[in-house]
Amino acid sequence: MQPVNIIGAGLAGLSAAITLASHKMPCRLISLGHSERAQSVLAEGGINAALNTMGEGDTPTNHFIDTMRGGCELADPKAVEDLTTHAPEILRWLEHLGVPFNRTDTDIMLRNFGGQKLKRTAYARSSTGKILMTAVIDEARSYEAKGLITRYPHHAFLQLMTDKRACQGVIVQDTYSGEVLRFPGITILCSGGLNGMFPGWTTGTTQNTADVTAAAFAQGVRLANLEMLQYHPTTFGISGKRCLVTEAARGEGGRLCIERDGTLWYFMEELHPALGNLSPRDVVARTMYFVRRQSDTGDQVYLDLTGLSREIWEKRLSDLRQELMHYLGLDPRKKLIPVQEGIHYFMGGIAVDPDHRTSMANLYAAGECACQYHGANRLGGNSLLGALYGGRRAAETILQSSIPELQDIQQTNICTETVSPLLTEQIRDVLLSGLGIVRSEDSLTKALYALQNLTAQNEYEQNRLYLAEAMLRSALVRKESRGAHYREDFPETSDAFRCITAAECTDGKVKITCRGLEH
Ligand code: FUM
Repeated sequence: MQPVNIIGAGLAGLSAAITLASHKMPCRLISLGHSERAQSVLAEGGINAALNTMGEGDTPTNHFIDTMRGGCELADPKAVEDLTTHAPEILRWLEHLGVPFNRTDTDIMLRNFGGQKLKRTAYARSSTGKILMTAVIDEARSYEAKGLITRYPHHAFLQLMTDKRACQGVIVQDTYSGEVLRFPGITILCSGGLNGMFPGWTTGTTQNTADVTAAAFAQGVRLANLEMLQYHPTTFGISGKRCLVTEAARGEGGRLCIERDGTLWYFMEELHPALGNLSPRDVVARTMYFVRRQSDTGDQVYLDLTGLSREIWEKRLSDLRQELMHYLGLDPRKKLIPVQEGIHYFMGGIAVDPDHRTSMANLYAAGECACQYHGANRLGGNSLLGALYGGRRAAETILQSSIPELQDIQQTNICTETVSPLLTEQIRDVLLSGLGIVRSEDSLTKALYALQNLTAQNEYEQNRLYLAEAMLRSALVRKESRGAHYREDFPETSDAFRCITAAECTDGKVKITCRGLEH
C-alpha cells in the first residue's frame, strides 16, 4: 500500500498520522524539525470544547454560535458545526491519552477565554500546547514502532509532483545530506501558518516559512482569505520574535489599561462593556491601536495582573509568571506588563472543503496552513482544536475514499535554493506597510507597487512574491471591514462581502475572486 505523505509534524500532522495508522494505513511524517519543536508546543492558554464541566449549561451549539460570531460569519457553517460537535469527544480522547489538564475535584476544569461568555477552555497551566503535544507524540510513537508511521525529520518540502493538475506526491530534500527524494502518494499539507512572511513580528515559529503554501499556490492550488491576519493583543518583543502573554491571563482576571491624565484607564471595560477584556482579539487589538492614538493618553498599553490571587498564579499561570520574569525581569504580581499587538495566527491559507480536500485532486490540508473554521477572526482556544480535528478529518476522508496508486512523475529542474534573508525582510516590510491593523486603498496600493519592485533570483523567491501579492490583492478586493480586516476607507461590514477571497496563480498571474463560503 502506498503510504500517505504528511508534510508537517505538529499537531495537525500527528493527528492525521495517528488516524491513518490506527486504521493500518501507512504514512510518512515529513518535517523540517522534530515534533517537539513544532509551533503547536508554543500554544499556551488552552483548547475549547463545550464539556460543560463547570455547570454553566454549555453546549456544542453555543460553541458553534460563538465561533461563527467570533469569525464574523465568514466561516463555512457546515465545517464549524462538525468541529464544535466533535470537540468534546476530542477532549476526552486527549484525557484518555493522559494529558494532565487542570481539574476540578471530579473532572476537567475550564477557564474563560476571549469571545466566549461561558467557561469552555480546557488547559494545562499556561503550557497547554507543550503538555498536550507530549501525549500526542507519545501516541504516535507506538505506530512508529509498528512501521505504520515513518518519520522524515530534517526534510524540506520542495514541490508537489503534479500531473494534469492532480497531485501525485511530493519532492523533498534531506537538509543534512542534500539528497532529493521523491515520494509518490496522496498528500496532506500540515505545514503551519505563514510566519516566515513576517520574521520578527509573529508569536509563531519562522520554521513555518510559508514556502509550502507558496509552492502549492504557484503550482495551482487555491488559497483563501489571505488578508485575515490575527493580531494578538498581548505580546512583547524579544530578539527575533514576539512572545505571547496568554489570553488566559485576561481569562483569569487580567485587565488592559493605559495612562490617561495621570491615572490608569481600563479602556476595554468602558468601551466594550459586554465582554470587556475578553472581547474577540480583533476588537481588543483594534481598540488598543486607537486608544494609543488619543491625544490624552500615553502610547503604551499595559496588562494589569496585580489583582490575581496567589492560587491563580500557583495553579493556573505559574509558567506565565516565570516567562515574564525571565524575559522582562518583571514580577506580574507587582508590576504592570507593557504589551503590544503582534501577528499571532493566519486565518487564511489553503482553501479546503469540510472534508479538508484542497482544489487539487489527491491533495489535502489541515491545521493553520488551511483556511477553515475561523472565518475573519479565530477564537482563542480553537486553534489546537482545529488542528487536531482537521488532521483527523483529512485522514478520515482519505480512508473513506478509493485510494488511487499515484505515479512517480519525473519533474526536472528541481530548485533546491532558498529565499535570501534580504528578500525575506523586504517582503516583510512591504507586507507590514499594507497589512497592519488598519488598512486602506492607499496603503495597500503603495505596498503592491513596492512589491512589484522586488525581484526574485530563484523559484522559491518567486513563489513568496506571488504569495505576498495575493495577500495584498485580497485585502484590496475586500472593500469592507470584517474581523481582523479593518479598512479605514470602508469601516462598515457589508453583506456583499460575506464571501471568501479566493486567490489563484495561473502562469504567473495572481487573480482574486469572491466565492461562496463553501470554498
Ligand atoms: O493567548 C493564548 O493563549 C492563545 C491561544 C490561542 O491562540 O488559541
